[in-house]
Amino acid sequence: MKSLLLTLVVIEVFCIVHLVQPQNQDGFISLDCGLSVDESPYIDPDSGLVFTSDSTLIQTGKSGRVDKAFDKEHIKPYLVMRYFPEGLRNCYTLNVTRDTTYFIGAMFLYGNYDGLNTYPNFDLYLGPNKWESIDLDRETNVTGVDMIHTPRSSSLEICLVKTGETLPIISSIEIRPFRNDVYGPGPGFGSLSSNFRMFFNDSYRDIRYPHDIHDRIWAPYFPEYDWRIINTNLSISNTGVYDTPKLALGTAATPSNKSLPLEISWYTTPPTVAVYLYLHFAEIQALRANETREFDIFFNGSSNISAFSPPKLEQHTLTLPPVLCPGGICTLRLVRTKKSTLPPLINAMEGFNIIEFPSTETNPSDGIYLTQSFIF
Ligand SMILES: *[C@@H]1O[C@H](CO)[C@@H](O)[C@H](O)[C@H]1NC(C)=O
Ligand SMILES: *[C@@H]1O[C@H](CO)[C@@H](O)[C@H](O)[C@H]1NC(C)=O
Ligand SMILES: *[C@@H]1O[C@H](CO)[C@@H](O)[C@H](O)[C@H]1NC(C)=O
Ligand SMILES: *[C@@H]1O[C@H](CO)[C@@H](O)[C@H](O)[C@H]1NC(C)=O
Ligand SMILES: *[C@@H]1O[C@H](CO)[C@@H](O)[C@H](O)[C@H]1NC(C)=O
Ligand SMILES: *[C@@H]1O[C@H](CO)[C@@H](O)[C@H](O)[C@H]1NC(C)=O
Ligand SMILES: *[C@@H]1O[C@H](CO)[C@@H](O)[C@H](O)[C@H]1NC(C)=O
Ligand SMILES: *[C@@H]1O[C@H](CO)[C@@H](O)[C@H](O)[C@H]1NC(C)=O
Repeated sequence: MKSLLLTLVVIEVFCIVHLVQPQNQDGFISLDCGLSVDESPYIDPDSGLVFTSDSTLIQTGKSGRVDKAFDKEHIKPYLVMRYFPEGLRNCYTLNVTRDTTYFIGAMFLYGNYDGLNTYPNFDLYLGPNKWESIDLDRETNVTGVDMIHTPRSSSLEICLVKTGETLPIISSIEIRPFRNDVYGPGPGFGSLSSNFRMFFNDSYRDIRYPHDIHDRIWAPYFPEYDWRIINTNLSISNTGVYDTPKLALGTAATPSNKSLPLEISWYTTPPTVAVYLYLHFAEIQALRANETREFDIFFNGSSNISAFSPPKLEQHTLTLPPVLCPGGICTLRLVRTKKSTLPPLINAMEGFNIIEFPSTETNPSDGIYLTQSFIF
């Protein structure tokens, strides 16, 4: 069995912007952390998003700027950051609408802002609950996290917590309201931390706002062997609830050997986390009368889907119930059925880790905001 083990935390920061209708940014909070108030707000030329300074939402930290060498490779909102030389725990307090589902994203670009060339490690918290450990490694220089979360109070705390010698940094915070019946296994199942969100193409540019009206970031993925990319210039109907960008649906992966399955494997961290998968499909080739594309879908431990045929130029999303992957290795296999004359295809895919947040967020009626605290 061939395995392509992905470590998908890859976030390329350039994005594709060509002529599309401007989209509504109502309810978006787009913070360029460390931006001086004099420069706020501005329109990011790459995404068209209006970014503001974070200075009214946090009292601590200092502004830093990446080394000029990074300017060319990264979009404007990531070039300045806030870093935290003081305190173990530093928090942003954001106003949100309680019981509304949000996409909450944060980006971290170190860019040798301090000239020390030492990549920071620290933890990110949502209120009292740990969200993720941020480990900025030398390979990518930039990392991002995002989550689908429904705050139970009208304020949301995003906290950076020092865990070692290095100082926490943050480049941007992006919060977008999202209808609450789309993602997630339902009430009581915790929040969904994005593991990857990808489309299949042999390219390096991300797709994000305005192509994704919710500003999710879709990273291209294409392994060097075994796969072939097909694409279409025809418009694909994406009128369902997922709003997967048409650009992401317009390309797809198939196995280069038509008789072999399409197989995707990845590690989960931690290995014991439940994985929730969304598979986005559309038939993007013109099939002749004597051609069929039909395949079975196998995912570790979950129920199997049989004899699936993607609808022609129309998005169809399959969700698989949350699973624990054996040994932290997940394998998705799309296997052509006997009847099928064409190999399987897949256009885009999202994987989430389910995180349970044991404690609720700070209740604003408490009137207490601990923006810095040494108690942990
Ligand atoms: C957040 O809400 C509080 C209480 O309603 C208000 O005092 C504060 O100004 C708001 N902050 C922002 C940044 O809108
Ligand atoms: C990360 O930054 C270093 C230092 O500027 C650079 O040499 C390296 O190419 C960067 N890596 C990537 C993947 O951009
Ligand atoms: C897919 O890759 C091709 C070749 O690199 C590129 O021309 C095209 O713009 C890419 N499409 C998307 C949606 O990224
Ligand atoms: C889509 O358009 C591009 C540019 O005009 C062209 O190179 C490409 O072959 C077209 N793709 C298909 C599948 O027709
Ligand atoms: C495709 O895979 C089949 C089944 O493993 C194999 O018999 C065949 O030789 C492969 N074809 C090519 C072109 O590699
Ligand atoms: C389908 O029909 C076309 C044209 O008649 C033919 O060239 C092709 O070989 C057929 N394909 C299959 C799988 O039978
Ligand atoms: C489940 O995972 C194991 C170990 O990774 C793998 O060998 C097996 O083929 C997987 N089963 C399915 C149905 O994907
Ligand atoms: C899914 O298919 C695999 C491989 O055929 C099989 O081992 C597994 O029992 C099936 N799982 C379910 C839930 O049907």
